[in-house]
Amino acid sequence: MATSPPPSQDKPCPAIPMGVDETIQHSDWPALTQAEIKAVLASHGHAHHRQPRILETSIRPYSAAALVTLPHGEELFIKRHDGRLRTAGAQQKEHDFIHHLHSQGLPVIQPLKTPQGQSFISLPSQQGAPQIYELFPGLKGRDTYRHDVTWGQSWHNQAQAYAAGALLGRLHRASATWRTPPQPRSQEALLLSGMAPLEGADGANRFLAAMAQRGLPEQRALLAGDLPGLLHHFHQRLRQAPSQEVFLWGHGDWHGVNLTWRQDDADKIEEVFDFGMSDATSAAFDLAVALERSAIAWLNPGGPAPFSQALLDAFLAGYASTGFSAALKRCASWLPLCHVPFALSEDDYYRRLLQDGASADIALEGYLVGHMQWFLAEEGQRFLSTLQQSAERHAAAARHCPLTPSQKR
Ligand SMILES: Nc1ncnc2c1ncn2[C@@H]1O[C@H](COP(=O)(O)OP(=O)(O)O)[C@@H](O)[C@H]1O
Ligand SMILES: [Mg+2]
Repeated sequence: MATSPPPSQDKPCPAIPMGVDETIQHSDWPALTQAEIKAVLASHGHAHHRQPRILETSIRPYSAAALVTLPHGEELFIKRHDGRLRTAGAQQKEHDFIHHLHSQGLPVIQPLKTPQGQSFISLPSQQGAPQIYELFPGLKGRDTYRHDVTWGQSWHNQAQAYAAGALLGRLHRASATWRTPPQPRSQEALLLSGMAPLEGADGANRFLAAMAQRGLPEQRALLAGDLPGLLHHFHQRLRQAPSQEVFLWGHGDWHGVNLTWRQDDADKIEEVFDFGMSDATSAAFDLAVALERSAIAWLNPGGPAPFSQALLDAFLAGYASTGFSAALKRCASWLPLCHVPFALSEDDYYRRLLQDGASADIALEGYLVGHMQWFLAEEGQRFLSTLQQSAERHAAAARHCPLTPSQKR
């Protein structure tokens, strides 16, 4: 990992919103500064006298990013992570996974390497923990879902839902040969989305015990409320779920916002990016995460159309077209639980790191518990049974082509 002198004190670039809600006016992280951008570009061999032109700087929640143009027109995307959120080791694992998928023919955007062969750099910062910087080539495809909200909007049409399902299936097939332990769990490693905390027959009990042990007052309050009952209910259903778990690294955030589409065919995927939540989970868990983020209109789950059966069917048909069925049969059982570890880690992120109690409360009450309550109520039950039936139908029709045997942990 290359280290350079700390960027000189200069002002963050003015925020030019990028991505989801462009009306948001605040950012959790300071925008990248000209000095940081120059330092990152220089470490990648782009030492220019002139300032790079900044097209956009991001105000997205978990990191800071900027899209810049070099003097000869090439666009590059820089992403900065606070070192308390991502260690160098975790970043390296994520990149190794991206390179593996690329070697298997997946259309992933690969991080650019420095002349010394490093795919990210680390710079000291005034906050204490070094900051981690990734550099990517600009997107080739159309960023069609750029203004959409994860958890808010589904696929734009059935052809895109099918393509997204099919590519996730291909990703799982390619990832089944990637045998690397999960991202490390530690007090420092916030923002993780893994299934390990809930795995095994005693998963619900272990999870609740771990929450109690942390002793955070807001989390303890949930333990005295609906949470234990909900967790036990859905965990029991998971234990009875059909088919074997196929352990593999998943993308962890499969949604249109992390895909681009071909310039010459709006319904074909050009490239996949944003592997920040990738981790060792399972095919069913990762499929459930994809559905949790894209299949339900969480901004209005009590509205007249909380989900689209046609889009759900198209997505599952795409996934089934890649030829294995184990994940399809189990994904409905993971769905009410797959957000649980991430929601808890979001609570940590907002409460401990950002001291933003209001967002942390939303993560615990609205997300962690609220989503499970929805799945238990009438609409959620209807969704889960529609999903189970549809998934089993597609699994039965799938050309049988099993993945490699389950990986042992
Ligand atoms: N290589 C890139 N070139 C140009 N824009 C990009 C690139 N990668 C991401 N973006 C844009 O920035 C947004 C945020 O990037 P992403 O890596 O998905 O981070 P986040 O963790 O905030 O979702 C994307 O949704 C996309 O609109
Ligand atoms: Mg993203």
